[in-house]
Amino acid sequence: MSNYHIKHLEEYFQVYRKSVDNPESFWEEIAEEHFMWRKKWNSVLNWDFTKPAVSWFEGAQLNITENCIDRHLHTRGDKTAILFEPNDPKEEATHISYKELYKRVNKFANVLKAQGISKGDRVCIYLPMIPELAIALLACARIGAIHSVVFAGFSATALATRINDSDCKMVITSDGSYRGAKTIDLKSIVDEGLENCSCVKTVLVAKRINSSINMKEGRDHWLQPLLDDASAECAPEIMNAEDPLFILYTSGSTGMPKGMVHTTGGYMVYTAYTFKNVFQYKEDDVYWCTADIGWITGHSYIVYGPLANGATTVMSEGVPNYPDWGRFWEIVEKHKITQFYTAPTAIRALAKENLSYVETYDLSSLKVLGTVGEPINEEAWHWYNDNIGKKKSPIVDTWWQTETGGIMITPIPFSTPTKPTYATLPFIGIQPALMDENGQEIQGNQVDGRLCIKFPWPSMARTIWGNHQRYKETYFSAFENMYFTGDGALRDEVGYYRITGRVDDVIIVSGHNLGTAPIEDAINEHPAVAESAIVGFPHDIKGNALYGYVILKETGESRDPNNVRKEINQIITEHIGPIAKLDKIQFTSGLPKTRSGKIMRRILRKIASNETENLGDTSTLLNPDVVQEIMDNVL
Ligand code: WT7
Repeated sequence: MSNYHIKHLEEYFQVYRKSVDNPESFWEEIAEEHFMWRKKWNSVLNWDFTKPAVSWFEGAQLNITENCIDRHLHTRGDKTAILFEPNDPKEEATHISYKELYKRVNKFANVLKAQGISKGDRVCIYLPMIPELAIALLACARIGAIHSVVFAGFSATALATRINDSDCKMVITSDGSYRGAKTIDLKSIVDEGLENCSCVKTVLVAKRINSSINMKEGRDHWLQPLLDDASAECAPEIMNAEDPLFILYTSGSTGMPKGMVHTTGGYMVYTAYTFKNVFQYKEDDVYWCTADIGWITGHSYIVYGPLANGATTVMSEGVPNYPDWGRFWEIVEKHKITQFYTAPTAIRALAKENLSYVETYDLSSLKVLGTVGEPINEEAWHWYNDNIGKKKSPIVDTWWQTETGGIMITPIPFSTPTKPTYATLPFIGIQPALMDENGQEIQGNQVDGRLCIKFPWPSMARTIWGNHQRYKETYFSAFENMYFTGDGALRDEVGYYRITGRVDDVIIVSGHNLGTAPIEDAINEHPAVAESAIVGFPHDIKGNALYGYVILKETGESRDPNNVRKEINQIITEHIGPIAKLDKIQFTSGLPKTRSGKIMRRILRKIASNETENLGDTSTLLNPDVVQEIMDNVL
């Protein structure tokens, strides 16, 4: 029996048992048989959640790009590695073979070196979904530079914060990007951000929209001419298994985003192994994940996981509704997509449109459907199952996080019977626990609690860049000797998990993880605002939308409220990005607070969600009267 490819439910249970009874020998076998190492490890796992310190394959040496590219050259050299589908369907798709990917990554790696980047340096990547994005990640990995991808929908301020936090020497960007019928001037956003970043010495600019842009003498260089002149051979830097591969920022409960640090060996093993099994990937499949590489989903399941398996991975530049709402299904038909992985928010938006957008296309190539990013509601699940999978393609509802690096709770298609809204069973090697308020593990089934993980897994983030203390406090302090996910979950009568949502100050809007604190900080910058509080409320496409309660300063009270609303959203757009804009803004004279001065968000959340029958005890509040005022004026 090969533990690498699970084909039925009994096999899942057997392999799972092995992986928890003997985690070290289990992962050692997977690592040994399916990857290329320059040197083997001295030990498989060392861990101590109290520090916290975790290392996998300590002492081993490798380069992840040798695993993702070089080793496929003999067997799959002409096979398509990356299939690029442009924003505009009239522009032809590009097939980049493994051989060609090898050349392009090596050339790019040589350009990075020539521009002074070496092992351990941080490189910020701020690019749209064009091939250069995937190639830039791999080029950094080739020379041991640590990439920090910032989603190209983030604002100049958000970009600058991330660049400064990890002290990036270089930014890789493009003149601009296409987004449906619109173009976005990425380079000018970079220019604005860099006014506040003295660490950046070089900017490489890919050409995408052929706009005329400002190039700063001595700092900015067009990428293509440098690539043209570079050699197509760049020896891979030999990395230790625990050397950082990348930093990726995620929102937290303070204004400062957390730079999650992922290392090389364990991340590679786990993303490759999950990709193979969760998508039941087979040699001639064409796999498409619609995420942006700016998020962890794209890192792990567009780039590293698929390429480590020698897969064909589709990168699509566009949006689901351009030129019309049939675009996704057109791509599925055109490239005979076999695995399709997307977010519940996209499914809900697509389900609102006329079914004829789906029915026009032949979707018979599809074998496995996936979702990720937030809980999927029952209605969206059924729409996806009935109309896209035609009740034949299992849906894998995959629960995981930026911090976990790879998929943690998920069905294995054709093995695990699916159940709408349930992420079902822990993946191989994952040991979840539900915890109660007193820090005790809740045993048995038909229970709910806070979701923790009891044992390390190979792709877990090792620290927060520059702030190990915050890593410890955020993830390893709420429950003793456990990784705390920040999510609530329930376990049903057969042991299936259903994720019920965040239990902290993070709100997931359209699958984007947003912290309340940075948004409130932005709102409070408005000169007329005294104080604010943000909560989520249910939204039929976004999952959650943002509701802001705002107290105006006396000087602001005479202003036209709609103008103030617009200005607040403008400031949010500048500080974070348009994804964090508020759907509703209610002005109020006060916010419900505890006697210790803490805003009672629970009450605000219920009012915004129209669940006011059961507000709980408000008598202990410092200012109980304000609750009635807020309820009377709810939007
Ligand atoms: C949070 C992590 C993992 C890549 C995308 C998001 C929520 C994620 C599911 C799911 C219910 C989910 C959780 C998690 N989440 N997948 N299948 N069902 N909730 O990564 O931005 O780090 O967000 O997304 O709340 O904690 P992220």
